[in-house]
Amino acid sequence: RDPPMRSVRRSSEGAVAEVVIVEHPDVGGELVARHIASRVRAQPDFTLGVATGSTPLPVYAALARECAAGLDLSRVVAFALDEYVGLPRQHPESYHSVIQREVTEPLGLDPSLVRVPDGDEATIATAGERYEAELTAHGGVDLQLLGIGTDGHVGFNEPGSSLASLTRIKTLTASTRADNARFFDAPEQVPTHCITQGIGTILRARHLVLLAFGAGKADVIAAAVEGPVTATLPGSCIQLHAHVTVVVDEAAATSFERASYYRWVYEHKPAWQGL
Ligand code: GLP
Repeated sequence: RDPPMRSVRRSSEGAVAEVVIVEHPDVGGELVARHIASRVRAQPDFTLGVATGSTPLPVYAALARECAAGLDLSRVVAFALDEYVGLPRQHPESYHSVIQREVTEPLGLDPSLVRVPDGDEATIATAGERYEAELTAHGGVDLQLLGIGTDGHVGFNEPGSSLASLTRIKTLTASTRADNARFFDAPEQVPTHCITQGIGTILRARHLVLLAFGAGKADVIAAAVEGPVTATLPGSCIQLHAHVTVVVDEAAATSFERASYYRWVYEHKPAWQGL
């Protein structure tokens, strides 16, 4: 691989930040999946940053349909955002397991090309540095899928995370642990710590695609897109990136001040621009 070449933008990719409002999460999933599919057809070893949570599932479902129709993702390299610390990899809710179940298997990725941060407690002190080294040696991420937590976190960068942070251990907030309790038998089983790509790491990806669906995300996504850039709301870091696509459904679009402008921009988007 030649990292410097990989960081050169294709001329058809604009340096744009835009908000796309779709009627349903499935429409958003299809839009993003179509874009990823076209990028992979042009570059089979495309590097995809994958996220967990319910939000990216429509993208994975639409990508699986593209695969059924002939798309080959077997050379795609995937880097996950985060992992719990201290959950065995085989635990069904470890992000190793979640990524395998929701991404690697259904999309036919090569498991040897899929990376997830190492949440093993015994070696956690060096895990962040090792993940950063892998990302750098590989040449970075072409397109990073992101969801946003109700407290504004991206990856597991909780409020207060440095905007320059790199992959490291973090302590989960009470609200994130409560949000994620639904995946465990009891709330106290949710791990207290995680390892996550930092905000500085995420900002190095060449294209950020932040998705938010449902009324429960309306306020936080509006704050991330239209509010001040602040470590208090880590999702607002997207405003520091030159190429961001925010995809929301109608329910998540109700708190934007500039919703009608976003709709106008998207309706008049030059066809050559792509996502
Ligand atoms: C989780 C993940 C994030 C995800 C967020 C939102 O804790 N670490 O990557 O974006 O919370 O989850 P959901 O998409 O289920 O709302």
